[in-house]
Amino acid sequence: MAKVLVADDEPTMVQIVAELLRAEGHQVFPFTNANAALEAMESLAPDLVVTDLYLDRNKPLGLDILQKARALTPPAQVIVITGFPTVETAVDATKKGAYDFLEKPVKLDVLKLRIERALSYNDAVSENVYLRKQLRKRYQFDQLIGASACMMEVFKMIERVADTESTVLILGESGTGKELVAKALHYNSRRQFAPFVPINCSALPENLLESELFGHRRGAFTGAINDKKGLFQEADGGTIFLDEIGSMSPMLQSRILRVLQEREVRRVGDNVPVYVNVRVVAATNEPLEQRIQEGTFREDLYYRLNVIPIQLPPLRDRRDDVPLLVSHFLRDKIHSRLGRSFEITRQVIEALSAHDWPGNVRELENVIERACALSETHLLRLGDLPPRFASYVSGESSDTVFEIASARTAHVLSAAPSPAGEPTPATAGVLATPLGPLKNFLRDQETAYLNRALAYTGGDKEKAAGLLGISLATLYRKLSEGAED
Ligand SMILES: Nc1ncnc2c1ncn2[C@@H]1O[C@H](COP(=O)(O)OP(=O)(O)OP(=O)(O)O)[C@@H](O)[C@H]1O
Ligand SMILES: [Mg+2]
Repeated sequence: MAKVLVADDEPTMVQIVAELLRAEGHQVFPFTNANAALEAMESLAPDLVVTDLYLDRNKPLGLDILQKARALTPPAQVIVITGFPTVETAVDATKKGAYDFLEKPVKLDVLKLRIERALSYNDAVSENVYLRKQLRKRYQFDQLIGASACMMEVFKMIERVADTESTVLILGESGTGKELVAKALHYNSRRQFAPFVPINCSALPENLLESELFGHRRGAFTGAINDKKGLFQEADGGTIFLDEIGSMSPMLQSRILRVLQEREVRRVGDNVPVYVNVRVVAATNEPLEQRIQEGTFREDLYYRLNVIPIQLPPLRDRRDDVPLLVSHFLRDKIHSRLGRSFEITRQVIEALSAHDWPGNVRELENVIERACALSETHLLRLGDLPPRFASYVSGESSDTVFEIASARTAHVLSAAPSPAGEPTPATAGVLATPLGPLKNFLRDQETAYLNRALAYTGGDKEKAAGLLGISLATLYRKLSEGAED
């Protein structure tokens, strides 16, 4: 059930529309006076407004109603009906945000359809907000933390290239945050509403990996009982993350090279290419140049992937970040996982900062989590760490508490979907997304959704409009609105 405000100076018209809406189970607020409708608008908070344009013989008061309805949070969809249609008024109404424009006399079945369409469009927008909230919950602690000079370089690079189409190669030892960087690239780009699809290229034998990546036709090989879509297609409009690319077989390396060159994929057992719009981000902890020398990694693929390299420093080269990371883990991750708050002694920080961390940030996180799980109090002491850490600290055991707040301010980059209610980083700058008017957020959501549909149809606007259930003209208008600021 939706709340619908109906405004027209002809009482019979109001009555007919109201009856139609009530028959569909909607709640109706009928008005024959524009000022009364304007006054009641905010407190009624309708989902949809169906208004006549000339509620007064001389003035198009329907435009005021339209503007007020669009300024609500959330904005109502508006269908404008007029007995005196001109191109100018139609353009004006659509510019001011009317969802639809109808001429009198209106056929009831047409009106019914248009109303349904406007309301389902509203649902799609709010559903999107809901989905984003869910996602936010799941990923809310996926953050990339750092303040050291080398991490600042990494952040700068991510900011600069996130919203481009360039292929990125992330290099770094195990546990340095390569997957987080890949996510940060995706969730800070306009592709964020489309899927982020990670695949570990070392985890599967060649033929399985091939059919995972490219899909297969039914009967292509024993066991292929159904057609299967590959991950490249799943990631359409979004980002595919090829992790551990260094362990990919030569045959698959050449297939990936073809995708990068042709932008199309062929399923196993199929000759028909499928166009895909996917951004490729790859990662490896292997020295690819050495693999090229040995002849196990294709040099041409390396150059295709390595358009933008991002090198992640090992944790031992950025020891200053240890306190920041520790407080991030304690405050965010551990607190929500174990439901307990912890403090930490200065000695623990000292010991953690002295360790060489061959397993990098992942190892640090594991040590902290283990210590929290084993600790009997809310204070983590040296004795809660694995025994080898004791040797890093000289002097008496001490319980002086480390002031978490004294850690330098971290630079934080979200590697998660941006929270509902905040403007998308693609339009607001990657970092520090300030809160702003909801209508801007909704418009950004809409623009991103449109872009996703366009990416999906390979830029075919007519197809995209069909997919979205809107007219081509509406699509053009919305695109120009989105590009205005
Ligand atoms: N800069 C960082 N800030 C916060 N957490 C981090 C950071 N870097 C890594 N982590 C955390 O460390 C763990 C390992 O990170 P990730 O999986 O991204 O590493 P990786 O480089 O992909 O490792 P591998 O090569 O072993 O796959 C994750 O839990 C991640 O959240
Ligand atoms: Mg990884």
